[in-house]
Amino acid sequence: MTAGAMGAVAAGSVVWPFINQMNPAADTKALSTTEVDVASVAEGQAITVMWRGKPVFIRHRTPKEIAESKEVDVSLLRDKQTDEQRFKTKPEWLVVIGVCTHLGCVPLGQKTGEMRGDYNGWFCPCHGSAYDTSGRIRKGPAPKNLEVPMYSFISDTVIRIG
Ligand code: FES
Repeated sequence: MTAGAMGAVAAGSVVWPFINQMNPAADTKALSTTEVDVASVAEGQAITVMWRGKPVFIRHRTPKEIAESKEVDVSLLRDKQTDEQRFKTKPEWLVVIGVCTHLGCVPLGQKTGEMRGDYNGWFCPCHGSAYDTSGRIRKGPAPKNLEVPMYSFISDTVIRIG
């Protein structure tokens, strides 16, 4: 009995370091989320932040852009999503992963003066995909809308991505 109990304790102490190593370190957890203060991003402007090695586009949409996105007949879209399904809480802030869903190029449209394509969102010059102001695919070979990452507002102006 005693030998068995000792064996169990020994096994327990051997197993623990392995389990502990499998827990993500604090710095790994920190990298999996990114916090961005968007207070200085004016209406009509956009910023790009990196999250998990990918560009994330954050656009401060104008009322006109929001209205255009809402008016779209969803039944005509390739990847059918309403504008409401594309943002969390605040329609003026669109947060999408800036990677074209065709072959992974980074679309244009973030900087002032860059091409935004026929639907005023983003344009991928690699093979001509055009996204609208909700990041939905409208033209070209890309099969899906720009992906919306997990995010939330942790204050009025700070977004936590991840
Ligand atoms: S990678 Fe964007 S259109 Fe081909």
